[in-house]
Amino acid sequence: MDVHSKDFLWGASTAAHQVEGNNRNSDWWALETGHGRDMFEPSGLAADSYNRYPEDMRLLADAGLKAYRFSIEWARIEPADGVFDDRELAHYRAMIDEATKNGRKPVVTLHHFTNPLWFVQRGGWTAPDAVEKFTRYVQKATEILGGVEWVITFNEPNMLTLLISMAETLQGNDGAALTAPPEGSRLPTPSLQLGARIAEAHRAARDVLHENTIANVGWSISASALVATPGNEQKFVETKYAWEDFYFEVARDDDFVGVQSYTSQIVDAEGVVPHPEHPDNTLTGWAYRPDAIGIALRNAASIVGDVPILITENGIATSDDTRRIEYTTGALSAMMAAIDSGVDVRGYLHWSALYNYEWGHWAPTFGLIAIDRETLARTPRPSLAWLGSVANQEDAAWAAIAAS
Ligand code: BGC
Repeated sequence: MDVHSKDFLWGASTAAHQVEGNNRNSDWWALETGHGRDMFEPSGLAADSYNRYPEDMRLLADAGLKAYRFSIEWARIEPADGVFDDRELAHYRAMIDEATKNGRKPVVTLHHFTNPLWFVQRGGWTAPDAVEKFTRYVQKATEILGGVEWVITFNEPNMLTLLISMAETLQGNDGAALTAPPEGSRLPTPSLQLGARIAEAHRAARDVLHENTIANVGWSISASALVATPGNEQKFVETKYAWEDFYFEVARDDDFVGVQSYTSQIVDAEGVVPHPEHPDNTLTGWAYRPDAIGIALRNAASIVGDVPILITENGIATSDDTRRIEYTTGALSAMMAAIDSGVDVRGYLHWSALYNYEWGHWAPTFGLIAIDRETLARTPRPSLAWLGSVANQEDAAWAAIAAS
């Protein structure tokens, strides 16, 4: 699809736990306020987007961004095993209605890292009936998904498996508080066994969604733009498979696939190499690599074939908004080169719409709209108007992308 067509989805993304606030029945809330309290800051009220979402959506739409990706929260909809909260379902339906006004398009994620606490307490994703429990929630959620054209079952199933393995590794004995792993330590390789379980849940959810809604269904994958180092090609292939290619293979049967890219990493004899320190590293400690999205898109397309791609996340943690515009200009230039080489990209959703809770930390500020942590006042950054000007096909923005 032509990026200049009116159907190309230009927008921004968020996730419930990172912006809503007070997600009290979730496993992450329990972690932040319990055994993870020494390692993580609490999410608390977050950006209070649970109440302020009309303002957030209006700011995006006024800037010219027609698509808003957000997640509905399983832990709110089903706060106890088998108990569904109709008020929360109505709340999310109201969000969908707001995001659909004036031809706008919601992209709805059903699972973005958080689980209901009850689900985790009974064994989480390794419990024998985990898929059944998730599918029951998805079935219920279809009641409010009427008219939604884009549904993501799982956000980053590959990072979800990694998070689950890390939680197991870091888990202190007898409920002892978690401590952060030493800086620069390597992440474990995501477990393919667990990945297969999440894939089973994805397929079951997809079937339920196809039966009950008109939605295009897919999942969104963390794409690390991995690059081999000389002599380690075999390790590279194995590592890339466990980190992401397995998940792209599953997407071959989907209506679309979400690609989420921020940076690039090399693979040596032991696997993925942590980012070396560098003055250009972003606030998450990641290498500044606007070109990463190009590597990520080509790798995705080489596996999913003609399944359309939505860029469901791309962005930078920085306090310097000029740098955010510079990064995104470079990323869009890399996206255009990938499209020119034949990759079928249907949309670009920036991460993030708002400054948000970055899984345990408030300092890394992704976002087109700043949030004052005291007053919760919203201040659009220049990058919001700039991305709007890209979406509105303004010449100056496109000339900079072409020149980048
Ligand atoms: C996640 C987001 C996260 C972002 C930046 C992705 O892994 O989907 O929830 O905030 O990257 O770290």
